[in-house]
Amino acid sequence: MRRRHDEEQAACHGPRRRCARHAAVSPAALHEFVVNAGRLVVFEGIDGAGKSTQLRRLAVALRAAGHRVIETHEPTDGRFGQRIRALARSGTRVAPDEELQWFVEDRREHVAAVIQPGLTSGAIVLSDRYFLSTVAYQGARGLDASRLLAEAEAEFPLPDLALLLEVDPTRGLERVAARGGIAEPAFENTRGLIDVAAVFRSIDRPYLVRIDGDREPDAVASQIHAIVQERLALL
Ligand code: TYD
Repeated sequence: MRRRHDEEQAACHGPRRRCARHAAVSPAALHEFVVNAGRLVVFEGIDGAGKSTQLRRLAVALRAAGHRVIETHEPTDGRFGQRIRALARSGTRVAPDEELQWFVEDRREHVAAVIQPGLTSGAIVLSDRYFLSTVAYQGARGLDASRLLAEAEAEFPLPDLALLLEVDPTRGLERVAARGGIAEPAFENTRGLIDVAAVFRSIDRPYLVRIDGDREPDAVASQIHAIVQERLALL
């Protein structure tokens, strides 16, 4: 330990070497630190993956540990979210680009009204779906998934952690049916979900962690709690 410190000191004081540790904090880093005092944890996965159950359980655990938690979801209950749901229930599909626009508009409102204020106030914001859903669902409709990801990351706050619950699409749909959910025909069918799951599988990001969701909820919950502890030290 001591040796490492000495080596760092030596490197730091060497000619023309800049030491990150001793360098002044950049304005951008300071802004990030002050503006986003909270944490953003998002749950992603196909329909029926168990996102809402696991989000609620994590919220309970975080509150018990003394944190202020905001639970939220996409599509939202705002005007774009309501339009999306109405469309989904009707079974009609609009062109992929138009659909994309609605989800993006919904997210703009969501970030401005809920997510960013939550982060600024130091809360832990838990969201049931966020921009990786757009990458996977609208990507599965033929839009370029890497472009969708790049655009989303350029515009919206990055999650500190994205928990991707992976389940077999047939199993996911069985779960949607079992909870009495009306399958939203526009988004929820096995063929479509297989494509969506494939795009989710292809996403690789440092903030993304994959979790096997085809297990008992207790087992999934303990893995999630362990990951949240390991990555963010919140529990
Ligand atoms: P869902 O999570 O099922 O909402 P709820 O359970 O509240 O009805 O989301 C509705 C559908 O919207 C779901 O099939 C996934 C889809 N979706 C997208 O296609 N793109 C997105 O960006 C988001 C957030 C959701």
